[in-house]
Amino acid sequence: MKELVLSESADKFIKRLSKLSEKKQMNLTTSHPWDEPYNEKAWLKRKENLSIYGTKYYDLATEEELIRLAKYETGGWWAAFITFENLVTEYYMKLINHQALAQFPTVVEYMHHFCKEEIVHSMVFRKAMEHFKIEPAEVSEFIKDFYQDNASMEEFPLKAIYLTIIIEWFAENNAMLDLQNDFVSPLACAVAIEHNKEETRHIAWGKRMVSELCHQVPGFMQEAREFTPGFLRGLVDTIFGNIDILEKVNFSNPAFQDIEEFFETVLFSENKKRIDKEIMTPIFEFFVEIGIYHPDYRAYWEESRFDYIIDDILEKQKVATV
Ligand SMILES: [Fe+2]
Ligand SMILES: [Fe+2]
Repeated sequence: MKELVLSESADKFIKRLSKLSEKKQMNLTTSHPWDEPYNEKAWLKRKENLSIYGTKYYDLATEEELIRLAKYETGGWWAAFITFENLVTEYYMKLINHQALAQFPTVVEYMHHFCKEEIVHSMVFRKAMEHFKIEPAEVSEFIKDFYQDNASMEEFPLKAIYLTIIIEWFAENNAMLDLQNDFVSPLACAVAIEHNKEETRHIAWGKRMVSELCHQVPGFMQEAREFTPGFLRGLVDTIFGNIDILEKVNFSNPAFQDIEEFFETVLFSENKKRIDKEIMTPIFEFFVEIGIYHPDYRAYWEESRFDYIIDDILEKQKVATV
């Protein structure tokens, strides 16, 4: 492989991210209002983002069940974050120890901050789960396996960096959208907001790495064009399609017994389409900009039912350039 090059401006940008990480860091004991009394009735996400919102199931659930659903859907993400952030830390530290990124000392320096931040994040999520007495739901295999399947030590690990940022970016958009409401617990809001401050830097770093190197690493673009839509569909449906959460909430109305119909309804609802669009639009704009979305690969976006979001972005661009 030809020697990879990071531009001078990218180098400066990454140095600045390291400086910001040094300046302000999340603290496990002082960054959140942990003294918030435990309240069984606390809402952990906005109602409009519940998987069953806008479907017949919403009206069939009791208020207590809706609160429990909000708790387990948010807790499902917290548990997924813990698994994912532990994996990222382990994998990135391995890369550093294997000298896999030694050609970019600025990147290695930033990755140390990155890993340290992820260690604190996963401790915060664990503490939040204990605070709200959330038994972790089963984390999907999809999240657990992805470094095993997609990361190697031999080649330049751009694919792993890419997958990491799209997971982080998607998860952050999702978390920030979930808390937009006054009645959501202030502690749950702080967990998301404080996390978002540091993740914004992780995402900025990953975006920069991908846009600088995507055309330099052989085969990367073609592979990314093929797997990205399906990968994101799996990700965005993770919590809405989680049977473990459904069992934990334990809805009393018999209509919830027909699991197949339930998932068919919530995964294809109009509200789900709205949520997917709000979460994905900024990410897809980046894909269009750097060419991960390419018209020749449109079938993959149609198959993953993301074409309506892409079309909207392309339409807006057309209007902007006229
Ligand atoms: Fe994190
Ligand atoms: Fe992160």
